[in-house]
Amino acid sequence: MAKPHSNSHSIAQTSGFHLNLQKKTEKWVLMILALFSTFTVIVLLLRATSSNSCADLLLGLRYDTKDWNPIPESSSSASSSQASSNPLYFMKSKLVLLVSHELSLSGGPLLLMELAFLLTHVGAEVVWITYPKPTEGDNVAYSLENKMLDRGVQVISTKDQKAIDIALRGDLVVLNTAVAGKWLDLVPKDSLPRILPKILWWIHEMRGHYFKLDFVKHLPFAGGAMIDSHITAGYWKNRTEGRLGIKMPDTFVVHLGNSKELMDIAENNVAKKVLREHVREALGVRNEDLPFAIINSVSRGKGQDLFLRSFYESLQIIKEKKLQVPLMHAVIVGSDMSKHTAIETELHRFASKKGIQDRVHFINKTLTVAPYLAAIDVRVQNSQGRGECFGRITIEAMAFQLPVLGTAAGGTMEIVVNGTTGLLHPAGKEGISPLASNMVKLATHFEWRLMMGKKGYERVKERFFEHHMAPRIAFVLKEVLSKAMNHT
Ligand SMILES: *[C@@H]1O[C@H](CO)[C@@H](O)[C@H](O)[C@H]1NC(C)=O
Ligand SMILES: *[C@@H]1O[C@H](CO)[C@@H](O)[C@H](O)[C@H]1NC(C)=O
Ligand SMILES: *[C@@H]1O[C@H](CO)[C@@H](O)[C@H](O)[C@H]1NC(C)=O
Repeated sequence: MAKPHSNSHSIAQTSGFHLNLQKKTEKWVLMILALFSTFTVIVLLLRATSSNSCADLLLGLRYDTKDWNPIPESSSSASSSQASSNPLYFMKSKLVLLVSHELSLSGGPLLLMELAFLLTHVGAEVVWITYPKPTEGDNVAYSLENKMLDRGVQVISTKDQKAIDIALRGDLVVLNTAVAGKWLDLVPKDSLPRILPKILWWIHEMRGHYFKLDFVKHLPFAGGAMIDSHITAGYWKNRTEGRLGIKMPDTFVVHLGNSKELMDIAENNVAKKVLREHVREALGVRNEDLPFAIINSVSRGKGQDLFLRSFYESLQIIKEKKLQVPLMHAVIVGSDMSKHTAIETELHRFASKKGIQDRVHFINKTLTVAPYLAAIDVRVQNSQGRGECFGRITIEAMAFQLPVLGTAAGGTMEIVVNGTTGLLHPAGKEGISPLASNMVKLATHFEWRLMMGKKGYERVKERFFEHHMAPRIAFVLKEVLSKAMNHT
């Protein structure tokens, strides 16, 4: 029981510990429920507001190609839980400027905020600027700014000469996403050579419109680049060389990881049960039913339209073959009907045209995904095109022991082991039938769902925890710091 990450099947055990945990559990289950039931109030709705972003939290990493710097595996394990040996401790008293391209609830800025908190936690002096600056009266930006101020991050105005002074004087500058490169246009030319070697450029996207010299002309001279998946790093390397005629700087692949908060819920059976029952009841999904869910902002890129087609097709197969399966549901978390987008309308129309509207549930965008992860049985990751840059929601789902049905594209392929922790299908229209058939497979094979869920959890435990991250991020920061030193 003393193991820091002993997995959760253990609550109904011995006395004192049991009581203690129960109390704690109740407290935050209530808290989550409170959040959950009032979640329109929560400013923090997010989940990949931008497509192809790596969305939220940090870490994991390794690489095997000579093009990118391998991070020693050994640096990752030892340190797990002892705060005393925080691998980022060397950042104490270091001055760090963080440059964000926006202050919103999309993946990129939230990731940078996580990094800010990791750094203030070890006593680094952290200064944040947003460029271009958020519009006046933006409530989300205002609340995020306050959150940062509360946690010891200094938030300063972009136009301020101060930001440039800090970059000159500081130890490290983190530019977040390609677009943040625009900020360098504010830096006087003669100061650039002193700032560039201190830059760690953190990239979370692979959409074509980021590949512009306008954004990334200084990228080759940065101290280093940190990218969330191998596939994205490869894509950047190809594109920068092929299209823009520039070279990537030293590049480090750092997979993201699950936050402690999420793992606390995922590993607590009592909490999960409470959330599961609550959400299922709210949706009208019975205990014995089988909900498949997609949890991403509704957009073509995330493939909810194709998912519904697969869902319908799977129901047809089941009917034709007279298969005995639980009542299946499709849950779409990340809807925003107020936007009246074509795709939202199309999804609703499709459901009613096919007469499956009772089986299809739309849920507003929310930051609080844990209750849904607790409530569903299978997660679908149907991102299209080049797929997710990483797709943190996938490792979150796996933490909840959910099998994942994902497109064979992007970061999903670095997370899901086909046939073991889930099943992959092709992106695009040609993926509709394979996904339908995978849904039928999981519907008819209860034991596969359980096995894949368990294996998924094991994989997360092996490499996608927060404590896997710190040493890896630390490795990258050290590399860039030493490079910057050599330049001065
Ligand atoms: C990069 O280009 C090479 C050669 O054209 C190709 O084989 C590879 O798949 C590309 N990688 C990515 C991630 O686009
Ligand atoms: C979901 O969003 C819509 C439109 O923004 C709103 O009308 C509705 O009340 C929201 N539902 C919940 C449960 O918050
Ligand atoms: C995933 O595995 C299935 C069979 O286990 C196979 O048919 C399919 O081609 C695999 N997909 C990918 C992308 O590897």
